[in-house]
Amino acid sequence: MNPAPNHALSSTLAAAIERVTGRTEVDPLLTVARQPGFDLQANFAMKLGKQLGETPRDVAARVTEKLGDAGGLLASAEVSGPGFVNLAFSPAALAAWATRALADARLGVPLATTPQTITVDYSAPNVAKEMHVGHLRSTVIGDAIVRTLEFAGHTLIRMNHLGDWGTQFGMLTQHMLDTNTQHVTDFEALGTLYRDAKQRFDEDAAFADSARRRVVALQAGDPATIALWQDLVDVSLAHINHLYAQLDVTLTDEDVTGESFYNDRLAGTVALLLEAGVAVESEGAVAVFSEQFKNPDGSPAVLIVRKTDGGFGYGATDLASLRYRIDDLHADRLIYITDARQSQHFQMVFAAARRAGWVGEQRIEHIWFGTMLGEDGKPFKTRSGGTIRLSDLLDDAVVRARAVVDAKSPELPEEERAAIANAVGIGAVKYADLSTSRQRDLLFSFDRMLALDGNTAPYLLYACVRAESIGTRAGETSDAVTVLAEPQERSLVVKLSAFADVLDEVEESLEPHRLCTYLYELAGAYTTFYDACPVLKAPDEETRRSRLALCALTAKTLKSGLGLLGITVPARM
Ligand code: ARG
Repeated sequence: MNPAPNHALSSTLAAAIERVTGRTEVDPLLTVARQPGFDLQANFAMKLGKQLGETPRDVAARVTEKLGDAGGLLASAEVSGPGFVNLAFSPAALAAWATRALADARLGVPLATTPQTITVDYSAPNVAKEMHVGHLRSTVIGDAIVRTLEFAGHTLIRMNHLGDWGTQFGMLTQHMLDTNTQHVTDFEALGTLYRDAKQRFDEDAAFADSARRRVVALQAGDPATIALWQDLVDVSLAHINHLYAQLDVTLTDEDVTGESFYNDRLAGTVALLLEAGVAVESEGAVAVFSEQFKNPDGSPAVLIVRKTDGGFGYGATDLASLRYRIDDLHADRLIYITDARQSQHFQMVFAAARRAGWVGEQRIEHIWFGTMLGEDGKPFKTRSGGTIRLSDLLDDAVVRARAVVDAKSPELPEEERAAIANAVGIGAVKYADLSTSRQRDLLFSFDRMLALDGNTAPYLLYACVRAESIGTRAGETSDAVTVLAEPQERSLVVKLSAFADVLDEVEESLEPHRLCTYLYELAGAYTTFYDACPVLKAPDEETRRSRLALCALTAKTLKSGLGLLGITVPARM
């Protein structure tokens, strides 16, 4: 056990509050101190004073007296203002925590006390179509969430809900049959096939009819149709996997549970909904009505689960997949990540599932994000108004990152600069996405995301590499923090010890930008320390070794945090 100093203090304070007031489990409400010379401030006395009919200052004073030095944790504790308690850790306690964190592969971050099984539905591109920026955001945000929750000790099930089923596959496979196409050579050819088939579908009623019959054959598992469909899926997956590799995300083929996966669960799901009275037949279709949800024009929104032609749609698939996640995968927490436009769809799906009685204690969340905008503030498009191909975008990011790397580190060998540019370019795209609160629209700007200053990937990567390389330059490693004489050293340790807290926050809120903000602040605390406290030229050997250990812990924490965001730190830059 290696509780961070603020956690240890929080429990000791709660115990002191209990002994003084008899109140149990009072949150001491610790925040960062505003008064110089102190680390934290406890705000419990305001509310507690009111509850006890005492002045907050009196309560604060009694608790502070009882607290003493909190078992060696504190150097000082002082009541101030209307009843805050200012608290300063003892340097020895901070140093001991830092030394233990440095020796710990988890950097002092505890494992979850109740590990859960968590499904995360993310990425989910559509077969036979280009992946768009919405899929990019879902992939990047989802992967960061998965990595963070996995690190906390939960069991993560990645669910790539591939759009691989539905009417358009009748159209595509029928067109393949008609043109005697057994195999589509590549993604390019697939695009052509899609356009041709769509044109026929729109112009030729007889073809449209046979396409509709073909869907029925497909959904009934007709082997010849399935073989053609599988070819489309394979070609698309090859393309998608190429992007995943470029993006360095953790998704693999194993994680694909596309819409087709739920095919033989759809009829049963709809039957259950009808039985429970949640869905009703209406004009030949089966639908879930509810007063709760409205269309943009104010009319009641309806969740169609079976269409008039007997086919099942997106809604039925999501209801079947929700049951699968709860009943078969035993998920405790279900997370879905798509853009904001699907919010109502998911709210309707979740509400229907609850009404049907399928949901118990599980926590079910739609994690939505805003639109990606170009520098002109308009939806992201190419200059000619077309959709941007994601692989072009990523290639472009790497090319631009290369210019930054070449300018900054011309002395490094060519091959290494190429590898660094790759890490910086991809890291910059991901970090720009993750560091913006996901509910806000994301302004996509290469100049901004590749800037060496500010809250960007290049800034953090350089900070991390610099902190790491100090040990190399010193020619020695040090594993103990022993001297914390300067305020900048102390602030750095206090910031380092908050890593576990921010990971908890991300786990709760599923907002990776909180981790980004933390890492940016940590890099800032490190710079402040580094400017004020010479490391290699420290006044004495003990201080030098202690500061080297601080640099090492900072580098490890930055690297670990960036890793949880899916960003790789190069060895040199
Ligand atoms: N394929 C869908 C799209 O491109 C996203 C699927 C999201 N996941 C889900 N379970 N519906 O919009």
